[in-house]
Amino acid sequence: RERTYIMVKPDGVDRGLVGEITARFEKRGFKLIAAKLVSPTKQHLEKHYEDLSDKPFFPGMIGYMLSGPVFAMVWEGLDAVKTGRVMLGATNPLQSGPGTIRGDYALAVGRNICHGSDSVENAEKEIALWFPEGLVQYSRSHEAKVYEI
Ligand code: GTP
Ligand code: MG
Repeated sequence: RERTYIMVKPDGVDRGLVGEITARFEKRGFKLIAAKLVSPTKQHLEKHYEDLSDKPFFPGMIGYMLSGPVFAMVWEGLDAVKTGRVMLGATNPLQSGPGTIRGDYALAVGRNICHGSDSVENAEKEIALWFPEGLVQYSRSHEAKVYEI
């Protein structure tokens, strides 16, 4: 099944939203494959956001991402990448619908509390970057309650 990289950003960790964000993915039926609280280096964050390095907001965004630890997660399930993005809402929280993570808990694009991979290819890259140690393997007892199998 498809996997996505979801990360609670430093503002989300500081505001005590790790449990809330994690709970939404759990309750939806996604399977947790990896999770850790980490203080990434500047180099690591620049690699994660390398596609945005030309943007004027890049230095400020890296500073924001360095302001405290992040909570890194891998979630697995049907259409995980796209569904994860829908659950996050639009990049700018002012355009995120109510019921989305950003729409419910954020106001500013530069403080949007959570990251989600934007394609399956980028999810694979991000998972390798954040979890070089590998993921956890286990089977869930309630798989047939989440999927027709
Ligand atoms: P991520 O899930 O964090 O990757 O966000 P995204 O995929 O919705 O947006 P994108 O990858 O284009 O931008 C990455 C992050 O840069 C955003 O989540 C914002 O925190 C920040 N960002 C994007 N656009 C702007 C902007 O116009 N101004 C500022 N200040 N920050 C921005
Ligand atoms: Mg992005």
